[in-house]
This record gives sequence, C-alpha cells and structure tokens, in this order.
Amino acid sequence: MCGIVGYVGKKQATPILIDALKRLEYRGYDSAGVAVLTDKGVEVYKTEGRISELEAQLPDINGLCGIGHTRWATQGAPTTINAHPHVSGNISVVHNGIIENYNELHKFLNNEGYEFVSETDTEVLAHLTNMYYKGNLVSAVIQGLKKVKGTYAAAFLCGDSKQVVAARKESPLIAGIGNGENFIASDVTALLKYTRDIVYMHDYEIVSLAGGQIQLYDFWGNPAKTHIDSIDWNIEAAEKSGYPHFMLKEINEQVTSVHDIMMGRVSKLNGDVALDEIKLSMEEIQNLERIVIVACGTSYNAGLIGKCLFEGLAGIHTDVEVSSEFRYSNHVLGDSTLVVAISQSGETADTLAAIREAKNYGCRAIAITNVVGATLAREAENIFYTRAGPEIGVAATKTFTSQLVALYLLAIYFARIRKRMDMDRSKRLLASLTQLPGMIQQILNSKDLIKKQAVRFSNAKDYFFLGRSLNYPVALEGALKLKEISYIHAEGYAAGELKHGPLAIISKDTPVVAIATRSPTYDKMLNNIREVKARGAQVLAIADLNDAEIDKNADAVIRIPVTDELLNPVLSSVVVQLLAYYSAYALGCPIDKPRNLAKSVTVE
Ligand code: M6R
Repeated sequence: MCGIVGYVGKKQATPILIDALKRLEYRGYDSAGVAVLTDKGVEVYKTEGRISELEAQLPDINGLCGIGHTRWATQGAPTTINAHPHVSGNISVVHNGIIENYNELHKFLNNEGYEFVSETDTEVLAHLTNMYYKGNLVSAVIQGLKKVKGTYAAAFLCGDSKQVVAARKESPLIAGIGNGENFIASDVTALLKYTRDIVYMHDYEIVSLAGGQIQLYDFWGNPAKTHIDSIDWNIEAAEKSGYPHFMLKEINEQVTSVHDIMMGRVSKLNGDVALDEIKLSMEEIQNLERIVIVACGTSYNAGLIGKCLFEGLAGIHTDVEVSSEFRYSNHVLGDSTLVVAISQSGETADTLAAIREAKNYGCRAIAITNVVGATLAREAENIFYTRAGPEIGVAATKTFTSQLVALYLLAIYFARIRKRMDMDRSKRLLASLTQLPGMIQQILNSKDLIKKQAVRFSNAKDYFFLGRSLNYPVALEGALKLKEISYIHAEGYAAGELKHGPLAIISKDTPVVAIATRSPTYDKMLNNIREVKARGAQVLAIADLNDAEIDKNADAVIRIPVTDELLNPVLSSVVVQLLAYYSAYALGCPIDKPRNLAKSVTVE
C-alpha cells in the first residue's frame, strides 16, 4: 500500500524523506516521489519503479521541509505521471487512500478551470486545496477535504511557508516528535531512526508541522489535544540484523515472539491465564452464545484454528468469516455474540469495516493485532496485542504464530471461566505452550533438511498441501505462503475433500505436503497419503519426531518435536514457512516484496 512521509526541521529534508520511504518499501509500491521546499520554491521529483531509481535522478536539493510517497497503483497505471506528489499551483500533495467521489470532483474542478494531468484520484486533492488556499494551509486542506468522500492519509506542502499539513480518514497516519524537527509517516517503522515519540492520528484530525512545533486540529479547524505515545520498538528490530531477508529473520524471531506474547499472561503454577486487557465480565463470558472471527489472508487462517479452539475448549459456537465477505453479507448478530477481529497490521480496510459492521449490531469486540495504536486497536474495546515486534516481510510469519498463541490463551481463558476445563488440563496445556519456543528452535536447527526438500521441488508448477482438523488451516497457510513469495501455484485442501475433485489433477508432477502429526485423524491422513501416492505424487510429510509409521508412507519426512496435539499448528507452520522461503530463494524471487502485494491492505 502507498506510504507517505513528511519532514519539517533543521536538517536537509531529502535524505530523511528517502530514508523514511525506504523503510516503508515493505508495504509494496510501484513508483515513488518527493517534493521539497527550496529557495526556488517547491521542487518535485518522481519516477515509476524503485526508490533507488528516484534517488539516482535527484540533484542536490537544499531544503528543510518536504513530503514523500511510495505509490501502490489503484486508480491509474504505475507511471511517472501518476506517481505522487501531485501539484496544483503552489500546492503539492501525497496521498494514501481512495477518493470515491472522484468523478464528481473532477467535473467540478474542470468547470472551475483546473486541468488534470494524471489519471489518479489524488490529483483532485491538489486542485481542491489550491482552490481554497488563501494563505492558510490548514484551512484550505480542511475546506478541500470537506468535499471529499472516501479514505485518505494525505500530506500537503505549500510553496509559501516551511510547513507540512497532513490529515487522516481511515488510512494510517502518525506524527513523530523530534528535537526541533517533526515528521509524519504511514507507520512507525519509517520514523524509528529519528524518534520514538509518536502521535497516532485519529480520523478527521489534521496535523500541522511548522517552526519546530506540531499542532493538531479537528475537522472544524479548532486546536485539538495531542497524545504522545512512546514506542518501545527499536531500529535494530526493524533492520535485517545480518539475515538476507526480513522474512528469514522474522521466521527465526519466533523463538522469542512466541515467548514474549505469553509473558505476564500465563501462570503455569495455578493453570490460569491472566488477560487484563479483556474487559468482558465473567458473566458476559459465561453467557456468550457465539463468536464470529473476522480476518483476511494469513490472519483468516489463524482464525480457522481459533474456531477449533473456541469450540473444542470453551464450547462456544464459532464462525470464521473473510472480512471482505462479512461486510456485505446479511447477519444474525446480537449482544451475546463476540466478534474477534484478527489483523497483524490493524489497518486492513476490510477487517476494520467488518468490526464496525458487527458493532452496529451491538456485538462485543476483541481485536488481536500486532501494532500498538493501529486503527483496529481504537475500534475495539478489548485489545490483545501480540507483541511480535515489527514485521517487515510482506509474508506474515511471526505474527501468525503469535496470533495462534493469542487464540490459545483466549480459548483457555474462556474455557476456565465457563468451567469447561479443569485446572490440571489447563496447567498441562500452559506448560506445553511455554515449551514451544525451544521446540521452534529445534525446527530452525533442521532448516537444511527443509531447504533440501524446497530446492528439490522448486521447479514444480503446482503444489498441494493437505491436512485434517487443526492441520487443515496450516495446509491453507502453507499454500498461501508458497504462492505468495515463490509464485508457484499451490492449493491447501482438507485431505478428506481430495476425492471430491482435486484428486483429478494429482500426478507425479504435483508435490504434496501432508501435514500428518498425531491426532485422532492420523490414520485417515495416512490413507490420503496413499491415495496421492497411488497417482504418482511425491509426498513430503510433516510428522512427529517419534512417528515410525510415516516413513513407510511418505517419500520424505520433516519431523517436529512432540507436543500437545492442539499445539502442533504452531510447529508445523514454521516448517511450511521455511519451505516457502527456501523455494522462493531457489527461484530467485524478491522474497520480502512479492509482486502485486502490499504488507498492509488499507484500501478495499
Ligand atoms: O494485517 P492483516 O493481518 O490484516 O493482513 C491480512 C492479510 O493481508 C495478510 O495476512 C496477508 O495474507 C499476508 N501477507 C500473507 O502472508
């Protein structure tokens, strides 16, 4: 998704803007640009392609104030002319979001004599602000935005003064406070090098950076109160620390992230889970009739495992819905329904819309997210932070396993309150949970074996991932991860569904990853393995360390440590992540920034 940055201070703006934009590269983009206020007025440079291409064509620019942008094309092709900043007279603008009444505004501005040079919706923001500008940029921005329907995080620069004004509605935007210098950006990772004092902007807020000060305004231009949060992520956490890719670094970080999410939340001694962040009363939890999980992509796959846990452990009927479908479907919801929204970024537009929709029906809501201060965290009354640290690779890895642990803890918490789990069982399960980090390390130690299998099958055109019960969502996640970063077509299937269609395309050329850890459906899974082997498929099984049976059935086996069978998805996920990583590596793919994808999907 588009990234925006802005700077006003005592240093040269251009290197800071470029550096901050590079830190937003992971969001995905196809063109980039900057506008800097110099003695000669505002100078704008932009290009299609990478930030390095923009950098290569920048002259020496002397200016202490500017805005920058990475564009992820939505309306209009990814060309230089469509790249941001867009300019109208003295005004330049960068924007993330969608102007829904673009056609109407385009016509209106044409009638007012404004000519459009790009195909983008953003250009209307430049013209509107130019039209209303009478010496006060804040007021011009507000007047322009009042005419706009849609979503925006937008930053404006005017040739008249050293000031950046930015505004937000439903697209992420933060301001950063430094020493005599101030910043705006789409997210915290862009600013960690410069400041950890952050203002999370709310919808319809406007911020002005000028003269070493920041001032917030409401949508009527009244000064608003500034809440400064101090971030505990550091810059090292957002850099590669010697790994060739963020994805590999983040896969390895799961040893720590799976541990960190449990800190202060788990008491192995009395088998209790302490979740101070959950404000639902015991009575409300006892009376819950239904849970609806809303999420997209990898977070949706985590939700499918959540369903097994909420139903199996806490006895609460649970549905899992893709957010983009949920927001436009008919609902049967009420105040005894709990909505659990799962989103790594906390900024996924469809998931935000889904939770708002559910709240309209009076549902209680819990958000599971990794980003402190994200919009989702502000929408839900209960926020379960996954504390996994910044995830830069577009492919979600450590945040997925942290989401799983969040769901285990929530399910145990509910199960205990609803008296569906005795203390012995919860003690055992929590003890097993706390052993997961060490087990993840054991899997990471066998990475060469996984790499060998990944390389062996890296020329395959189609891959299948099969699983049953809790392993079925892992199969979906394995397929998603592989296609996302290696571009190999992959399908995740419930193994019992094979005979209902997909078996027709299984052949010697379709490697099958069978997630076959011990469970009540283990024998059924062996049958499914035999079915695909009989059609010539090569089977790579993910199985328990002590499983001797599997060798007779699969062509190759990746073994994972033996744990409580409920917790297997955390371990087998690490295997499928490494498999995807090494397949993409063997194929020379741009692992951290796969084509056409963005880290955070802030538009519908
Ligand atoms: O930030 P979110 O968890 O809401 O993002 C949802 C999906 O876009 C995301 O999980 C996506 O599927 C991953 N990049 C896949 O690795």
